[in-house]
Amino acid sequence: MHSFGYRANALFTFAVTILGFMCALASFTDSFNSPSPSVQVQVLKVNWFQKQPNGNDEVSMTLNISADLQSLFTWNTKQVFVFLAAEYVTPKHVLNQISLWDAIIQEKENAKFTITTSNKYRFIDQGSNLRGKEFNLTLHWHVMPKTGKMLADKVVLPGYRLPAEYR
Ligand SMILES: *[C@@H]1O[C@H](CO)[C@@H](O)[C@H](O)[C@H]1NC(C)=O
Ligand SMILES: *[C@@H]1O[C@H](CO)[C@@H](O)[C@H](O)[C@H]1NC(C)=O
Repeated sequence: MHSFGYRANALFTFAVTILGFMCALASFTDSFNSPSPSVQVQVLKVNWFQKQPNGNDEVSMTLNISADLQSLFTWNTKQVFVFLAAEYVTPKHVLNQISLWDAIIQEKENAKFTITTSNKYRFIDQGSNLRGKEFNLTLHWHVMPKTGKMLADKVVLPGYRLPAEYR
């Protein structure tokens, strides 16, 4: 006859093995999900556009962000972190990336949304490079799973341009 301790231990080992198997299965089936998010962003308005006393350009915009990220959600998804970045080139840097807005989405039902907002974070260029500047708006996402690896991807929306003059 086995002692109680031995049986408890065996049961525990079995439970842990099953749990490990479930986790592996969860992240494995997850890798078959090929998401197809859709994103549209309009710059509704340039609220103001100035050169600061320190010489840096700053712009404030009103954005209309419309996205359907529901396909990122599987039963293994804990939450999705999204951020919208303005990306542009300057003589000094190949890539300038400025986060304008972000959100954490915890429910699939909330992953389809339209919001009108001014940029949550300041759009400042370390220099005065923004007049007439072409930029991309890129929606980046990080999918944080309940178990397994984090996935990151993005959608690039090219072809935006800042006004040629301060206002
Ligand atoms: C925001 O974008 C959505 C989808 O493109 C559109 O239906 C809606 O009318 C826009 N809202 C504004 C205020 O322009
Ligand atoms: C903006 O997007 C276009 C098209 O995807 C790409 O060729 C270009 O390199 C992007 N610019 C930046 C600064 O990422």
